[in-house]
Amino acid sequence: MMQGNRILLVIGGGIAAYKSLTLIRDLKRDGLRVVPVLTKAAEQFVTPLSVAALAGEDVHRDLFDLTREAEMGHIQLSRDADLVVVAPATADLMAKMAGGHADDLASTLLMATDKRVLIAPAMNVRMWNHPATQRNLATMKQDGVLTVGPDEGDMACGEYGPGRMAEPVQIVEAIRDALGGRRVAPLKLGPAVATGRLAGKHVVVTSGPTMEPIDPVRYISNHSSGAQGTAIAVALRDLGARVSFVTGPATVSPPEGVEVIRVQTADEMRAAVEAALPADAAVMAAAVADWKVANRADQKMKKGRDGMPVLEFAENPDILAWVSQLKTRRPALVVGFAAETEDVVSNATAKRRRKGCDWIVANDVSPSTGTFGGEDNTVTLISDDGAESWARMGKDEVARKLAARIAEAL
Ligand code: CTP
Repeated sequence: MMQGNRILLVIGGGIAAYKSLTLIRDLKRDGLRVVPVLTKAAEQFVTPLSVAALAGEDVHRDLFDLTREAEMGHIQLSRDADLVVVAPATADLMAKMAGGHADDLASTLLMATDKRVLIAPAMNVRMWNHPATQRNLATMKQDGVLTVGPDEGDMACGEYGPGRMAEPVQIVEAIRDALGGRRVAPLKLGPAVATGRLAGKHVVVTSGPTMEPIDPVRYISNHSSGAQGTAIAVALRDLGARVSFVTGPATVSPPEGVEVIRVQTADEMRAAVEAALPADAAVMAAAVADWKVANRADQKMKKGRDGMPVLEFAENPDILAWVSQLKTRRPALVVGFAAETEDVVSNATAKRRRKGCDWIVANDVSPSTGTFGGEDNTVTLISDDGAESWARMGKDEVARKLAARIAEAL
């Protein structure tokens, strides 16, 4: 999908610059051309020689390099690219970008380009949280700049929090998206399918709410839009997976290029998941109704005929627990979700044990986070390795990051 594309990679001056070497190697392996640009500060962290050797290209360093200016001006350099990537994007580089400065080669290229720009921020947690950086980020997003990361974790400076540069594998996925991969249905792409990291793998995804009938015209349901499940199906599809997408009546349309199985009730959803097996992984993102109406009426209930109706409930099958406990056809990786409003990690850790799944993606949905109905999500991934908090990010980005993790695990 990306083969032959040309990336202009601006490497900023941060400790994370060493990860850019891995990024160059990964991009080259995927058949891309990487034209590297080093800021002055970046040269303190990686040498032009190692960057040039890995990229197999000249490294561009100086704005006033006259011979090169004659050969190929900086405007040309930035326009020959299919995508401009800044990794690591330091606080200083972000400030320059947001402010429109052009006082060195990197910032000039970023001003002169007519291509999309993707940044992978990396800095100390306090610098990241500083209102100036957040303001610059908001400005850049408004300008259409794409972002990946930062992650939350231990930092080189000894502190903990968001600010760590996204891993090269995530940056590669973000580049793939930015180059237009996700707007194309891979099933129609032929050879590209075989090159994705999840090529040959089958993943079942549940999504959306379920709808439990009371009588032929009434039902019980919930507000799930299916947005997160749909984004996950898209991200898995873009990595080349064959996706069986089992969806309740969601408001978000199902993606192209996946097998869509529409269901209404939890019982139907469980049966559809069973029919879709075997699979290499299962991601249960649906908001399954916990109960169904046991005394469901075959005819429409009439007001005033039998007094006030009394609904009796029966428990619905727990699809996640059921698939986790399968003996012979259990997918190698079973991922569940947990929406919590308090004690997120301990509740989700207990839920993981109770359901028997491998990973739980725990969601903080307390009203102060603005997750419900919002575009962003704050999640913690709980696995055998413990709890890993991800920085607040868009739901699409959560999906891409999760898909990249699934690809690593399979
Ligand atoms: N799930 C499922 N089938 C159900 C209920 C839930 O497959 N009948 C899955 C969801 O898709 C999600 C996970 O289980 O991946 C957790 O759902 P959640 O509603 O948070 O868990 P509950 O079991 O309802 O726990 P609680 O009500 O205690 O929060």
